[in-house]
Amino acid sequence: MADDKSKSPADASTIWGGRFEAGPDAVMEAINASIDFDQRMYAQDIAASQAHARMLANQKIISTDDADAIIAGLDTIRSEIEASSFEFSRALEDIHMNVEARLTELIGDAAGRLHTARSRNDQVAVDFKLWARAALDAMDGDMQALQSALLDQAEAHAASVMPGMTHLQTAQPVTLGHHLMAYVEMVGRDRGRAADCRARLNESPLGAAALAGTSFPIDRDATAAALEFDGPARNSMDAVSDRDFAMEFLAFASILSVHLSRLAEEYVIWCSAQFSYARLGDAFSTGSSIMPQKRNPDAAELVRGKAGRVIGALHGLMIVMKGMPMTYGKDMQEDKEPVFEATETLQLCLAAMTGMLGDTKFNTDRMAADAGTGFSTATDLADWLVRVLGMPFRQAHHVTGAIVKLAEDKGCGLEGLALSDMQGVEAGITADIFEVLGAENSVNSRTSFGGTAPGNVRAAVAAARKRFLD
Ligand code: ARG
Repeated sequence: MADDKSKSPADASTIWGGRFEAGPDAVMEAINASIDFDQRMYAQDIAASQAHARMLANQKIISTDDADAIIAGLDTIRSEIEASSFEFSRALEDIHMNVEARLTELIGDAAGRLHTARSRNDQVAVDFKLWARAALDAMDGDMQALQSALLDQAEAHAASVMPGMTHLQTAQPVTLGHHLMAYVEMVGRDRGRAADCRARLNESPLGAAALAGTSFPIDRDATAAALEFDGPARNSMDAVSDRDFAMEFLAFASILSVHLSRLAEEYVIWCSAQFSYARLGDAFSTGSSIMPQKRNPDAAELVRGKAGRVIGALHGLMIVMKGMPMTYGKDMQEDKEPVFEATETLQLCLAAMTGMLGDTKFNTDRMAADAGTGFSTATDLADWLVRVLGMPFRQAHHVTGAIVKLAEDKGCGLEGLALSDMQGVEAGITADIFEVLGAENSVNSRTSFGGTAPGNVRAAVAAARKRFLD
């Protein structure tokens, strides 16, 4: 029986075509087939079928002998796929029917009992959820690796002063460590969104059958538990038509891609000759074929660009789903490629950003020199007037504005003004003022919770290692 190929279905219509007289047109087959991409879910398809077969036997819906044969046959198929000796066939449409057809070749009639109390509608939903769950887990590890790389640089640069910017204009001095820690927080929230998505998707559709449930005495709790779901989805129609999990997955993925793109943009700016705040090692730089002096941060530009694909995937799937009446429609076969592509793209981008961070030398002298320019300590001057002279902040702001104007006219920084110049604007100013005008003094004074002072950054790094890396 085991090698009886005469029973092997040649195309999908031999599985579902009881009332069909002719096979499909070649174009029909081309538009219908999903095997080229859904073969990625082979492990999930096999695991779900094995759980289903075991449950059917436990419930005495099929014999234990048949279940054993099915489970062993599916093990063989998994090995064949992993050894690349399995022949995927477009004529068999999708992963579900490719596996079932091969199972029929391997074990004969017993294979036909596997599809009792099941439909491809609950089958594809369970496979896809299992795949998405594994992808979220894998990406969580990748995001953690990125946080770890950010933390290493943040710790090394807890006290490296740089210009903090708003509107891409120098605003106030900050530390590079503080700047990088902002991304640790962002990626931390991305991981939280992935965890939320995982928790919400973790209900098993298996046993919803086509859409209405089944008349067989199945045990949905058992299959849910075997596949490590929290429990069965409560409504059979929702179970087969729910694709929120895929949309939520892509929403998480899109926000993450935006965060990566923002960090990538910082790299592009920092690596430019005009800024020269960072230098990527040879491993993450590319040259130009005509301009020998160039060192381009191509990987950063690609991370920035690839956000477009991920956001496009979210939009694409939402547009597929927005007009779908209950329950399943073949439109929904368009759900998987966006999720596969977004996952592949993000895993590459996360690895690239992590690699770049490890391969970056920051030009701390250059950043420190810029940190004091652009009257970046003007707020510190105003704060001094409030603190020492008891001036209302609005008035201090006004006085400081006049002093900035004076420095601008003289073409120097605030610290380059003579005490007498400043006293000409506000007689109460003393030589102590110079202590707050340096960029380093400025960052050292920012000790409020969440502020940029080096001590704060070191404490934030230690706390983040516990929160995110343990
Ligand atoms: N390949 C299909 C998909 O990805 C599987 C479900 C097919 N169900 C059906 N009733 N035609 O959606």
